[in-house]
Amino acid sequence: MATYKIAVLPGDGIGQEVTPQAQRILQVVGRAAGIGFEFEPALVGGAAIDATGRPLPPASLSLCQAAHAILFGSVGGPKWDNLPQEQRPERGLLAIRKELDLFANLRPATCFPMLVDASPLKRSVVEGTDLMVIRELTGGLYFGEPRGREDFADGGARKRRKRLASVDKANVLVVSQLWREVVTRVGKDYPQVALEHVLVDNCAMALVHKPTHFDTIVTENTFGDILSDEAAILAGSMGMLPSASLGGTGGKKGLYEPVHGTAPDIAGQGVANPIAAILSAAMLLRYSLDRGPDADRVDAAVLRVLEQGHRTRDIHSAGTKLVGTVEMGDLIVSEVEKSY
Ligand code: IPM
Ligand code: MG
Repeated sequence: MATYKIAVLPGDGIGQEVTPQAQRILQVVGRAAGIGFEFEPALVGGAAIDATGRPLPPASLSLCQAAHAILFGSVGGPKWDNLPQEQRPERGLLAIRKELDLFANLRPATCFPMLVDASPLKRSVVEGTDLMVIRELTGGLYFGEPRGREDFADGGARKRRKRLASVDKANVLVVSQLWREVVTRVGKDYPQVALEHVLVDNCAMALVHKPTHFDTIVTENTFGDILSDEAAILAGSMGMLPSASLGGTGGKKGLYEPVHGTAPDIAGQGVANPIAAILSAAMLLRYSLDRGPDADRVDAAVLRVLEQGHRTRDIHSAGTKLVGTVEMGDLIVSEVEKSY
């Protein structure tokens, strides 16, 4: 039986509540599909600062380096807001991305049919939205240096509808002009992909005006940070958006985290939506372990639980059944079990 070492870094706020639910999903899949998992917990972010004085203790970094994949929660919170930039909880996450060379960040945003009304946008605008933001994660404005080119074994984006919007600010930024040149050149190697260049301000508008126009969006670190939060609203709630950060040799090593943050306003109340974390676990199965069919089962289990009308507070509306974090985890775990 193949055994995988998974580093588990819940971090702060609701990261501590949703990450255990994602871990349970992997445990259930492991039992059913005969995959051995060794889960090793480690500190990161504010929790690590409180315990060791640093946002990413050396032991946590070595564990991430040794692991096949990392299940990550979220970092940050008001308690640490007054620390100097380089000592803040967020630095822990940036350091892992950098040290492990996780330069490609995949953030799918799908508006599930039963959640159309959870989005603040009109049904006629948001219905049918199914897009993927690919964000460069270790360069750009965050680190001020351009990066090289690397192909992924199974090219996440090539599984999609083959429409690529490259987002930049080439009318103003020199670094964006370079980006556009590189994307144009790489695009020539993939004649089957319809490539368009979109300016970032225009993209921000188009995302709420006509989100169904987009299939795959590829962009620089800071633009991707901003646009992926905007895309989250198309999916109804931040609580629905998973992500994968890939890189290293062959692109198999990955960090998987919900796009939402620590949500200090609801932390500790047991009401956070674990779906983003659970869908991130599904991405772990798909991209780091090559277990696409198992990932499909997890995705389908989430859909079934939503179809049955269960909702956490962020996506709850009249006529649906309100559940907490653990209860939502229970429901999805049991649907995954049933699917084997
Ligand atoms: C994200 C977050 C992070 C980022 C923070 C927590 C450092 O906003 O993953 O989108 O800016 O990349
Ligand atoms: Mg962000």
